Amino acid sequence: MKVMHVDASAKRERSNSRALSRYFLERLRGEGVDLEIDYLDVTVDTPPHVSEAFAIATYTPANERTPAMKATLASSDALCKRLLEADALIFAMPMYNWSMPSAFKAFIDNITRTELTYVNTDDGRIEGQLGSQKVLFITSRGADLRPGTPFSSMDALTPSLKAAFGFLGVADPTFVDAQPLQFSNQEARAEALERARDELSLVAARWAQAELSSQTHEAIEAL
Ligand SMILES: Cc1cc2nc3c(=O)[nH]c(=O)nc-3n(C[C@H](O)[C@H](O)[C@H](O)COP(=O)(O)O)c2cc1C
Repeated sequence: MKVMHVDASAKRERSNSRALSRYFLERLRGEGVDLEIDYLDVTVDTPPHVSEAFAIATYTPANERTPAMKATLASSDALCKRLLEADALIFAMPMYNWSMPSAFKAFIDNITRTELTYVNTDDGRIEGQLGSQKVLFITSRGADLRPGTPFSSMDALTPSLKAAFGFLGVADPTFVDAQPLQFSNQEARAEALERARDELSLVAARWAQAELSSQTHEAIEAL
């Protein structure tokens, strides 16, 4: 399985979202899935913010782009290619100020590309091109924003990720949200991490089952 794995926490060794995304990949391997990982740390290789040149070039039809426009879009083209070539996408990030880290937002701005990750059909529809990828979001939050908690209405992260990736054809992403990891006592934090690891183990088992059965299916078809 070809996986694009993206981390977005400003923290490194002490990051919970990074630890959880590594844990998920270990579980997937533990389930017998052969993984080819394409790794991107958006805090190190941060995609450029939208510039005027980008805003103009991205909406200029491909066959009308100047060499300068093509150069402006080259790194974004390459990121889109990486996503489109993956079988599965794993995005791990902390909540910052109720939404996503700005480096991950820059990533989204670079991968939302007309005629690459979404296409305009002849009958006037928009068709996202990431419909066949499995998608997992692992988010870490300081507060507890689960339904029924005082902070639940502050969750601007989940809807914005659903909207941005829904537009690209991701109809049913999986979310594993570790919370509360900061604004709580030690026991509640430990429980939140345990809950997240349990959920990740279940997702890994589900993905592995689907992957192994599709391999079996392909092997039978090849006979
Ligand atoms: C700049 C900054 C802003 C944050 N904003 C929020 C927030 O709005 N809501 C929240 O629940 N936690 C917030 N947190 C806490 C982090 O989401 C939490 O500690 C998370 O576990 C960090 O993930 P990481 O360990 O992968 O970096 C914030 C943390 C930082 C550093």
